[in-house]
Amino acid sequence: MSNILVVIGSARKGRVADKVLDYIKTDLDKREGVTYTVADLKEINMPFFDNELSPNNEAYTITDPQVKQWSELVQAADGVLFITPEYNHTLSAIQKNAIDSLGIDWNEKPVSAVAYGWSGGSLAVGTFREAIGNVKADVKQTIAQLGFMKDLNPDGTLLDAANVEAQIAATIDELVA
Ligand SMILES: Cc1cc2nc3c(=O)[nH]c(=O)nc-3n(C[C@H](O)[C@H](O)[C@H](O)COP(=O)(O)O)c2cc1C
Repeated sequence: MSNILVVIGSARKGRVADKVLDYIKTDLDKREGVTYTVADLKEINMPFFDNELSPNNEAYTITDPQVKQWSELVQAADGVLFITPEYNHTLSAIQKNAIDSLGIDWNEKPVSAVAYGWSGGSLAVGTFREAIGNVKADVKQTIAQLGFMKDLNPDGTLLDAANVEAQIAATIDELVA
């Protein structure tokens, strides 16, 4: 049994992330032995990282209740799947803050992403790999990159449903393997 934490990495009203979440749920709902929980970073509403110690310091203790909630969700998951929009050629700030806020919880944690944007979110994927790799997560090779005007319309509706389905399936296959 695998429990996947699906993390919504956008806080925008009308976000495309909600449609990408639907496509991910369609895949996950078909899998036997896989359960999932959705973490909406907008709802969790963590503060920007403000602890006086770095999370990789052995003495780092989480005091903030929202960060504790986030930490418990990551701890309880067998794998974490980020829904990753590209903002200014990198990760959304809310997602970067969620990565920065935890230390040991990331060690060896299987992590992947479904990215999207005008070039499939490729630049966000690059910085995602660097940030999540730096906290020693087990970042997977296969990361879906859904391109606007190729795979998705800019409002998130499907353009190439078969390719979206195949990319998401390949990403989740490797995450749960
Ligand atoms: C602040 C901001 C910066 C953006 N920068 C990029 C970018 O660098 N590359 C890109 O492909 N799309 C960029 N976009 C477009 C987003 O990919 C698009 O708005 C997408 O829908 C964002 O995901 P969301 O709706 O789930 O928040 C940007 C959007 C915003 C709001």
